[in-house]
Amino acid sequence: MKSVAPFSPILTSKIEKFQSFAKPTSLGTVKFSSRLILAPMAGICNLPYRLLMQDLGAGGTVSELISCHGINYGNQRTLEMLKIDPLEKTAGIQLFGEEAESMARAAEVAESYGPKFLDINMGCPVNKVVTKGGGSALMREVKNLAPLFEKMRSKLKIPLSIKIRTGWDANSLNAGEILKIAHESGIEWVAIHGRTRTQQYTGTANWDFIESLNEIKSLPLIGNGDLHHPFGVSERLQKTQCNALMLARGALRNPFIFLESLDSGYASQKRSVFNGNDYWEVIQRLHVYITETFHDERASLVQLRKLIVWFAAGFPHAAAFRSQIFTCPHLEDTMKLTEDYFLSLGESQKFINYDEVFMSSGHG
Ligand SMILES: Cc1cc2nc3c(=O)[nH]c(=O)nc-3n(C[C@H](O)[C@H](O)[C@H](O)COP(=O)(O)O)c2cc1C
Repeated sequence: MKSVAPFSPILTSKIEKFQSFAKPTSLGTVKFSSRLILAPMAGICNLPYRLLMQDLGAGGTVSELISCHGINYGNQRTLEMLKIDPLEKTAGIQLFGEEAESMARAAEVAESYGPKFLDINMGCPVNKVVTKGGGSALMREVKNLAPLFEKMRSKLKIPLSIKIRTGWDANSLNAGEILKIAHESGIEWVAIHGRTRTQQYTGTANWDFIESLNEIKSLPLIGNGDLHHPFGVSERLQKTQCNALMLARGALRNPFIFLESLDSGYASQKRSVFNGNDYWEVIQRLHVYITETFHDERASLVQLRKLIVWFAAGFPHAAAFRSQIFTCPHLEDTMKLTEDYFLSLGESQKFINYDEVFMSSGHG
């Protein structure tokens, strides 16, 4: 990635003020610049988005889930997804698959792309993945886990982590058992989304269960689920026994969530200091990251457009802006519309209805 223009002095000073509250942490041997980490999201956590979230305070990032089979077949599109930029400080690659030999082979390839760690997806609830035995189905075959972890570890120099759910269903909450196996098999840390596979994205994340694992854990634990606004994240950050927290959907509508959650006094005000100008600066940087990565107008447009629309959510006239953007076929025209929209917002605040369901499907 070529170096990008710095943010304006105004935005830079806002960012630096929040970052002064960040507490760096280590999970096993991996260093994170804050305890708030970007969770993996399919179709979203690619290189440009990870870089942007790092610039906006994410203490570390994880790629979207990447198929071991795609890697082992040498599929070009899959291999592209493995790329890590030299500017990325603490980025990991998440793999999904179901069988030890092929996952270990893919892990070796993934490691050669330079991530700081590899992560195994053990939470994906999607049928296509689960019926083959991958994602959250791995949590059902507990006896296969130690051989899987050990096989992968034997091929790697970098740490290996796992991301799980609480269990398959309410009658099999076996995350505690998996933590124990993970510890004994050399896994560096465990991230847990506080829902079962059966729940998919319904109901609420079971934070009592997550916190109870801290009583028995023998390795670092990252808690995840429903941390969608700075106030909620900041509250959880203060009271959790987890070593770190992971944020996914919250970062889509509020790219400043990692920063805003760091200062508990600020987060409780529920007003944002980030205005339309700041969003426009962030989008311009994202535009550079995306066009440098994809080198193709259509692919860049698709990537950029969905993020712009999420970033606009909750601002005045966002629905009309969204319709305009989705009927605009060219990247440069899209950027012009975006500039006009965000610069017209002045000091307008965003109002997001957090009680409304937002993105109720995903791969973990
Ligand atoms: C669109 C989308 C894609 C996701 N993709 C992945 C993925 O590739 N790997 C993974 O482990 N989890 C994935 N997840 C799950 C998130 O990492 C996270 O566990 C879940 O969304 C709960 O956190 P949240 O409430 O902060 O969103 C995805 C979630 C969403 C919404």
